[in-house]
Amino acid sequence: MIEGKRRAAQAALSEVKDGQILGIGTGSTVAIFIEILAERIRNEGLSLMCVPTSYQSAHLAMERGIRLTTLEEHPTLDLAVDGADEIDRELNLIKGGGAALTREKIVDSAAKRFVVIADKSKLVERLGSKAAVPIEVIPMSWRRVANMVRVLGGEPRLRDGGDRKDGPLVTDNGNFILDINFGPIEDPRALEFELKRIPGVVEVGLFVNLANAAYIGSERGVEKIERKS
Ligand code: 5RP
Repeated sequence: MIEGKRRAAQAALSEVKDGQILGIGTGSTVAIFIEILAERIRNEGLSLMCVPTSYQSAHLAMERGIRLTTLEEHPTLDLAVDGADEIDRELNLIKGGGAALTREKIVDSAAKRFVVIADKSKLVERLGSKAAVPIEVIPMSWRRVANMVRVLGGEPRLRDGGDRKDGPLVTDNGNFILDINFGPIEDPRALEFELKRIPGVVEVGLFVNLANAAYIGSERGVEKIERKS
């Protein structure tokens, strides 16, 4: 799996050009991308700046000497590179496994070109087959949002903070995450729209029609999927 992530990250590096402003996603695959990007910047003396989507990617990029900037300074980015939890062959995605979906959607959609990097296990016939759909919610609204999500046929679960944080996980934006199990999703765009309409929902981890290409890595090599339209 790690080799697939590394190959995908390496392949996406071919899209990076000197002088670009890049959006950088979040997660373990993006962490590999940041490491090899920093190496390339050092070796080739590239002049690049990055807009991070989380404290994780901001901290790692800073530690590796990558210059950071903001969307306020650069509202349009040349390229965004991000991971995914599920990818279908139309390049629709489920994202938010690292709870960074809101900033990821803002940054990824601000790029002229958005490429996804992932290992082969993320490729699915239909979104929702394996992964739940995360949504970021305003804390005071979570129980009501959860009730409304059940009406849409989903089974929501409030994401826990894990070993190092008692109680619910709190995002970089100070909100909660609901992971919603829908099973295989027939119409991701319609579902994204329905979820987004619920008061208290900040963002939905369905990324429909946003990615331009995906690099899917495996032990054997990399498959590139490019969006047709
Ligand atoms: C974070 C994300 C990640 O991109 C996604 O969870 C994939 O992570 P990884 O590369 O670790 O499998 O959406 O919110």
